[in-house]
Amino acid sequence: MPTDSFDLQPNATPTASPIREDILKNPGFGRYFTDHMAHVRWTLDAGWHGREVRPYGPLTLDPAAAVLHYAQEIFEGIKAYRHADGSVWTFRPEKNAERFRRSAHRLALPELSDADFIGSLKALLAQDHAWVPTPKSAADECSLYLRPFMIASEKFLGVRPAHEVDYYVIASPAAAYFKGGVEPVSIWLSSHYNRAAPGGTGFAKCGGNYAASLAAQKEASAHDCGQVAFLDARENKWIEELGGMNLFFVFKDGRIATPRLTDTILEGVTRDSVLTLARDEGLSPEERPISIDEWREGAASGEITEVFACGTAAVITPVGELVTEEGRIRLTAGSDNPIAKRLRTKLLDLQYGRAEDTHGWLTKLV
Ligand SMILES: Cc1ncc(COP(=O)(O)O)c(C=O)c1O
Repeated sequence: MPTDSFDLQPNATPTASPIREDILKNPGFGRYFTDHMAHVRWTLDAGWHGREVRPYGPLTLDPAAAVLHYAQEIFEGIKAYRHADGSVWTFRPEKNAERFRRSAHRLALPELSDADFIGSLKALLAQDHAWVPTPKSAADECSLYLRPFMIASEKFLGVRPAHEVDYYVIASPAAAYFKGGVEPVSIWLSSHYNRAAPGGTGFAKCGGNYAASLAAQKEASAHDCGQVAFLDARENKWIEELGGMNLFFVFKDGRIATPRLTDTILEGVTRDSVLTLARDEGLSPEERPISIDEWREGAASGEITEVFACGTAAVITPVGELVTEEGRIRLTAGSDNPIAKRLRTKLLDLQYGRAEDTHGWLTKLV
């Protein structure tokens, strides 16, 4: 879908450049938004239509809109990176588009084509490219975080898939997600709450999954942990993932393992990229069930030398310790996380155009 198929309603009062530049110096995460948003409407009769880029601003929703009652909603998270020559790129957007369709299917929402998904990112960036921060060094992991989402906007209180749906993309300048950068983080093990159950929506990126994770997130904060690790709902034994990231384990002998995908795990684009980069590095990645006992015993024996989390927002972040109700699981190896750091640098170098894109993972937005 060419960018020009999105009608433009320019923002008549865009953020003044000095204010924008000030925001870009210290954007934090998810606090500031650009001047425009992309929008495509869907109705049962007409399908997808009304592609537009319009001023960023509040939505008008009927109080009976289905999304407000039954949470028929999905979203994505993807970043735009500025390269040294000023051009702006995104990373594997086809993977996010594909996952967005899987999520749509599970939430009984209409599926959006790659052309509309990627076209909407390009159309928004054509207007708001000045909001993509310029990294000052290789350690400066700033980007423009893009948030496509789809909501059931039909005014109807009956419980059935909505006949009117809206898709939007908003964008927010972002600094590194964890303030400490590559400093290891503490993770809380949830033993009262599960994130997902077989047959449920765990593999979909829908708002309800995140709403359901917040009580555990509160427990994590109370224990000074930044994220929650969830176990499987059936046996409370198998490691699934964090509230917003996938997990990897590095073993003494060079194996690197991540929980195999099931319908209770979100298939991360970063996870898939790490599996490929690990192979490129001569490591032997495995996708298999990993139990909490294996984590505990492997950490104690030194068999596990590193644990790291990965996702678009936080890239690759070492996990320093798992805090549980029965005590802390720490790696005895006292690892400096060399594998996590190596993979992190490889991924960031690719995303910021400092390394050759041998896998064809980058798409130019502007
Ligand atoms: C539950 C969950 N798992 C994993 C991920 C990592 O996915 P990705 O690497 O595509 O950002 C995310 C973030 O989107 C997430 O919300």
